[in-house]
Amino acid sequence: MDSTTIRYLRESVALLPAGDLAPVDEFYRRLFELAPEVRPMFQREMDLQTKKFSDMLAWVIAHLEHPHDLCQELRAMGARHGGYGVKIDQYAPVGSALIWMFQHTLGDRFTPEMEEAWMEFYAFASFEMERGSREAVLTGACP
Ligand code: HEM
Repeated sequence: MDSTTIRYLRESVALLPAGDLAPVDEFYRRLFELAPEVRPMFQREMDLQTKKFSDMLAWVIAHLEHPHDLCQELRAMGARHGGYGVKIDQYAPVGSALIWMFQHTLGDRFTPEMEEAWMEFYAFASFEMERGSREAVLTGACP
């Protein structure tokens, strides 16, 4: 990910209301609209899940310049997701719901360049997570 992409990712996150989990609530609401079949997989209380997802996103965004740490964390998270029963074709609706969350929350402030940056980021993140879920033990070396 180049520095311009990283800048767009950070700028879009900075525009979200600080400390407010409402956008992430909306993300899950949209996900369950797009893919109702994944709803029963979430057994934890949704407020807790919303907080975990939000914290993870913040961690990832803070580590974009540390590809090795990022890759390791994404693969470990992917391995856990394999354990939750997540399948590769379930990554697409999550990506759509994430982009929708920004569009819905930011309106015109979410620019096409930001959208492009999120698509690039999500393709990378879901690739590494999926790889982590296939290699149950993290044998594949991260760059
Ligand atoms: C970049 C993409 C994703 C991120 C950042 C993410 C983040 C998280 C986090 C932080 C957790 C908390 C537990 C843990 O860390 O393992 C979690 C749990 C979970 N995620 Fe994801 N996730 C992503 C993609 C997905 C996808 C594609 C699905 C498919 C439906 C999914 C379904 C779940 C489920 C079922 C749980 C467990 C919930 C429970 O225990 O009740 N996630 N996710």
